[in-house]
Amino acid sequence: MDVVGLKGEKVRLIPPEPSLHIENAIRWMNDPEVTATLEHILGVTRRAEEAFFELMTTNRENALHWAVVTEDIGHIGFIGLQQINWRFRNSLGGIVIGERRAWGRGFATDAVRVRTRFAFEQLGLHRIEGHTIHAGMRRVYEKCGYHHEGIERQKIWREGRWHDAHSYAILDCDYFDAEINSLMPAV
Ligand SMILES: CC(C)(COP(=O)(O)OP(=O)(O)OC[C@H]1O[C@@H](n2cnc3c(N)ncnc32)[C@H](O)[C@@H]1OP(=O)(O)O)[C@@H](O)C(=O)NCCC(=O)NCCS
Repeated sequence: MDVVGLKGEKVRLIPPEPSLHIENAIRWMNDPEVTATLEHILGVTRRAEEAFFELMTTNRENALHWAVVTEDIGHIGFIGLQQINWRFRNSLGGIVIGERRAWGRGFATDAVRVRTRFAFEQLGLHRIEGHTIHAGMRRVYEKCGYHHEGIERQKIWREGRWHDAHSYAILDCDYFDAEINSLMPAV
């Protein structure tokens, strides 16, 4: 059965399914080029990844994850809303486009727009945050209407030096503003 999921202009977000997505997850999370700008750099074992998939399935109260798929390539990455705080209606976003040949085609931008739409229109969240040291990811946030809120100085040690992390966030009022709303793909 082909799961429709949440539709964007270029990608669909579907629930992670071990039989379809775990092999790519293990491959990507052990690819130094993919993890170079992630906090997670030690690689993952199959057992750890299986445990993570189990957690993604059983704990959908505080975190939601999706596999990102495209028409031509298929499964290219994962995206999520983590640390969902229902009292203050905020969450921390995360994304990995692990399939390197998919980079630079606007897939992350579309996936973040779909997740943003879902978070505000379906979950009723108030705020989504993101932190990154990846220059391309900063561009993604900017294209999706997230505000640059600050710099966390020397947050991540990588390749023998400190990297500043850039903090971004979008509020529901930013999203429902007509100008930014028009950037989001139609439902
Ligand atoms: C960062 C990442 C999500 C971007 O995915 P993507 O599908 O290539 O992103 P998009 O194609 O939607 O947009 C990328 C934008 O960043 C720009 N960009 C890409 N790499 C860049 C770089 N090194 N420096 C500056 N800009 C860069 C692109 O030109 C594009 O902007 P444009 O549309 O104005 O030309 C992806 O490379 C990735 O997952 N990397 C590994 C894991 C990671 O770091 N994830 C982010 C964690 S916060």
